[in-house]
Amino acid sequence: MSGKFSNQVAVVTGASTGIGLAIAQGLIAEGAKRVYITGRSAGTLNAAVETLGDKAVAVISDVSRQADLDELRAVIEEQGDQLDAVFANAGICEKNPLGETSEAAYYKMFDINVKGVFFTVQTLLPLMKDESSIVLTASICSSNGMEGLSLYNASKAAVRSFARTWANELKGRKIRANVLSPGFTRTPLMDNGLGMSESDIAELRKHVEQITPLGYMAQPEEIASCALFLASDDARYVNGVELMVDGGLSQI
Ligand SMILES: NC(=O)c1ccc[n+]([C@@H]2O[C@H](COP(=O)([O-])OP(=O)(O)OC[C@H]3O[C@@H](n4cnc5c(N)ncnc54)[C@H](OP(=O)(O)O)[C@@H]3O)[C@@H](O)[C@H]2O)c1
Repeated sequence: MSGKFSNQVAVVTGASTGIGLAIAQGLIAEGAKRVYITGRSAGTLNAAVETLGDKAVAVISDVSRQADLDELRAVIEEQGDQLDAVFANAGICEKNPLGETSEAAYYKMFDINVKGVFFTVQTLLPLMKDESSIVLTASICSSNGMEGLSLYNASKAAVRSFARTWANELKGRKIRANVLSPGFTRTPLMDNGLGMSESDIAELRKHVEQITPLGYMAQPEEIASCALFLASDDARYVNGVELMVDGGLSQI
């Protein structure tokens, strides 16, 4: 099959739903040979494989656990694959107001969103080809102060920072590292981590329609297409940047 990812092999962490699933779908539609997808829940991962078909390999793997990342690496090695792209996308979003946040909540956020991204890339790096590509999912929150989200915002600022250093650190192998920063996107993250009801989401949607220059909340596919751009040869001279995909929200 021809396409922008023809015959390529990729890993997408947190690909059982939302943006990660849409990235995996896009990779396969563009000719990828194999896409390793991860998440913690077997149920949603299996459902994702049913959607994606036999080019997808599901690995139950928690990015906050080094042993799980080692297992992911072992599965890829057993298959004899080398990686063209790693999408470190898994993340959570929870409200942690200052004054009401436990130490456990702090560690949960940083273990998944920061440690998880760092060790995903560190663990998979030996399997990455020279001139391959890393795409980290951060958020427009990497550089704003959305209320009640200080831990989430700080975790995404750390992710944004990783790409700067890695673009520099991996120059010897010509591996590019870039950041995808979505704005408001309708995914299960709103229902799960943020615990929003349908009416909360409807209210948020109206708010987003008012404050966003393009006037609507994104669908995961509109974010995923930009992740694919960053990983593709079209972006071969793009390195260390943060691409805001938010309908213009963070620019006004
Ligand atoms: N939706 C938005 O508005 C928005 C905006 C900006 C940035 N983002 C970022 O986009 C990324 C994807 O989020 P999404 O909106 O697509 O949400 P989502 O639909 O909830 O997807 C999150 C994915 O990550 C997985 N995951 C969560 N914790 C994990 C862990 N410890 N180890 C491995 N997998 C884990 C989830 O599966 P399990 O729960 O089964 O593990 C799921 O597959 C996140 O980094 C998020 O912060 C989202």
